[in-house]
Formats: sequence, structure tokens, C-alpha cells
Amino acid sequence: MPAGQQPAADQQPAAGGRLSRRHLLLGGAAAGIGAAGAIGIDLAGRAGGQAAEPPAEAALTGAATVPFYGAHQAGIETAPQAHVTYLALDLADQTDKAALRRMLRILTDDAARLSQGEGALADAEPELAVRPARLTVTIGFGRRLVERAGGAAPGWLRPLPAFGVDRLEPAWGGGDLLLQVGSDDPLTVAHATRMLLKDSRSFGALRWVQTGFRRASGSEKPGTTMRNLFGQVDGTVNLVPGTPDFEKLVWGAADGPGWLAGGTGFVLRRIRMDLDKWDGLDRPGREASVGRTLTNGAPLTGSRETDEPDFAAKTAIGFPVIPEFSHLRRARSADPNERILRRGYNYNDAPTGGSISNAGLLFASFQADVDRQFVPIQRRLDELDLLGEWTTPIGSAVFAIPPGCAEGGYIGETLV
Ligand code: HEM
Repeated sequence: MPAGQQPAADQQPAAGGRLSRRHLLLGGAAAGIGAAGAIGIDLAGRAGGQAAEPPAEAALTGAATVPFYGAHQAGIETAPQAHVTYLALDLADQTDKAALRRMLRILTDDAARLSQGEGALADAEPELAVRPARLTVTIGFGRRLVERAGGAAPGWLRPLPAFGVDRLEPAWGGGDLLLQVGSDDPLTVAHATRMLLKDSRSFGALRWVQTGFRRASGSEKPGTTMRNLFGQVDGTVNLVPGTPDFEKLVWGAADGPGWLAGGTGFVLRRIRMDLDKWDGLDRPGREASVGRTLTNGAPLTGSRETDEPDFAAKTAIGFPVIPEFSHLRRARSADPNERILRRGYNYNDAPTGGSISNAGLLFASFQADVDRQFVPIQRRLDELDLLGEWTTPIGSAVFAIPPGCAEGGYIGETLV
């Protein structure tokens, strides 16, 4: 064949430099019916197709693991996985300190194994564990668990103060033990969740389960800020792992009890988003409610997502370009210590009562001190936040996240 000329599609070697068996078979058949019929057809029936070699194991997202052991628990600095399930359990009356220790050892062992792609001990479906897809299991404690263990609870470890916007449903609140199970594969989340529940059922009862999702793994570039179900880019201004701010504002529970050093505080708010009502709002109104564009999340005074908002900019008729009532303005504090790590997920349940949506945000945030960091932000939003016209908090829970552990240790060993 002359240099520079490509072989016909059906004669091109498959990746790896050899003709695949299916091409040889189909190529031979095509040759038998004449050159005009000699098109490549792969076994899936796609014309012009060339059989792709399956990607190497290491390149598959299901094979990816996040280390379990370390100074901090996984699932906080971890880039958010596509799927999450949060579970809260209420401790049984007989779960005393010794039982808590047993439970935490078992849960730690399960989490360590499953996150590395191994079945849990006595796993009846170990085949489901082999695709961890960055599985992390993060364990948190409610006040009652800390007290049951005889430890000192940080002052903020209690229900949040009541806010005017709240319409809390008991079904989504409270709990003694939290498990945050995240993975890029929903089947993995389901399996891990079941194993953890199986192993904890003799210590307590399930109180609530909340599942959330982001875009599918691999559907967009890693690091892309998530979109919520209003279509907004959500999570732009956030604490960044590895920075001094993150160390101080997430891991810096320095004023708290000693057992929490290396840990943090966690807030989960289930916030209903009224998509049906949102449908009635035009695009400029939608953008004004947050102070950012829908196209790429840029502030209304900028063009790129990461541009700093210009709060002083005025429209031709003298109104602020980023409205005073916008979520962006109201959520931002003048005090740099009032910042949090937001790591939320969307939820989308079956609609009820004639509406066509029952959706919202699992607003999840990590902060060293819930009272000093989360509460002032929520207070400001409670006073004024246009976005509140379309959002309603219906669930609320607070947990302390103990530090990580080394191999041989267990999560919660500093407390129990
Ligand atoms: C369903 C409810 C909510 C929705 C749809 C929502 C949506 C958004 C959006 C689109 C942004 C702008 C982009 C960004 O920086 O992420 C934002 C920013 C922010 N939100 Fe929310 N949010 C909600 C609830 C909350 C709550 C409950 C809090 C805390 C109490 C909160 C705190 C923040 C903070 C701190 C920022 C960054 C502000 C800054 O630029 O400094 N949000 N939110």
C-alpha cells in the first residue's frame, strides 16, 4: 500500500496492532459478497465500526480506590463521588461502651476491606465488592453516642437552633451514628450499605437513609463543579483540601475535646427545592436569585466561574448588579472564619400529591465548629435569601466526625 494511504476500515488492525477475530470473520464474509459490500461491521451491528479492545483493568473507574487509613477519615477531602448514601442509626439501650467498641471495630474492618475492593468478613456477595469505584465510608457520632462512651461532647454537637425557614420533618433528623457511604458506582454503595447495616443491626436500629447523586463518573472532567437540580453551578466557592484554610476550618477542632483532634463537624440539611414553582421563574430572575449566571456559574459581574464578584457594581439605573437579596451575597461572610466545606448531593424522589417533582439538595457541610461557622451563615440566609422562595429545609442533623486511624486501629478509638 502506498505510503500515507490508510487501509480500508475493515482491514485496519484493532488496537494492539492485530486484526481482531470478529473483523477477520466479518471481513472474510464481506469479501465473499464483493468489494462494494466490504464495510466493517462490529458484532454490535454498528456499520464502519472497529472493535475496541477493552480498557486495561487499571484504567477502569471501578478499580479506583481511596486509602482508608490515615490521620483523617476518607470521604471529606476525597473529591465527591457520583453517589452517596447517608445512614443514621439510633443506638439500642443495651449498647454500652464495650459494645460500642466492638461495633466500631467491626465497622472499621468492613469499611477498610470494602474500600479496597475486598468483601467484608462473611460477605455473602463478595463479587459485589470488587468494584470499589473510590468507595469511602465515613463514620460520625451524635451526642448520645459520645455520652454513652463517657466522652465530652463539643458544645455544637446538638440539633441546630430553629430557623424561620425550617419545616423540619422528624423522619429526616437526628441520629446517634452516621455512616456516609460514597462511591462512583451505585451498586457498590448499595452493597457496602447493606454490609454495614448487617454488621451494626445488633447495636442499633436504622433511623433514616438519604441517597444522593451527582453526574455519572466519567461524564465530565474531574474537578468540574457540580450542578444542582435548579441547573445552577453549585460549589464554586469552597474550601480546598491541602490549603491552610482547610486545615484550620475543617480539621482545626483545636478548641474541642481531645478525642476529636484530626476530626471535624458535619451538618446534613435535606432541602426541598420546588422545581414546579421554579418553572415559573424566567432566566434573569433565576440568575438574580443567586447572583451568578446559569451558563457557567460566573458572578453577574464577571464572565468566568472563578471571577471574583464585584459587589459594588451598579446597573445603569443604580441597582446593584448582584442583588442585595441574592444567595451569593447573603451566604458570604465578611469574617473569613465563617466558611465551610460544602459537599452536597442532589436527591430526586417520587412526586406526590399531583406535583411533578419531589427533589432537592442534600446539603452536606464539614466544619471544625458548627456554631461558629455554619450557624451564622444559615442565620443570614434565614433573614434574607431570595433563593429561599424556592427552597425549604425539611431535614437537619449534626454529627462529630472522629479522626482516622492507622492499620490495626479503629475509627473512634480516641473516644471509646
Ligand atoms: C437548596 C438550597 C441551596 C441551593 C440550591 C444553593 C445554591 C448555591 C449556589 C448556586 C451557590 C453559588 C455558587 C457557589 O459558590 O457554590 C451557592 C453558594 C453558597 N452557598 Fe448555597 N445553596 C443552598 C443552600 C445553602 C445553605 C443551607 C448554606 C449554608 C447554610 C449555603 C451556603 C453557601 C455558601 C457559603 C456559598 C458560597 C458563598 C460565597 O460565594 O462566598 N447554601 N449556593
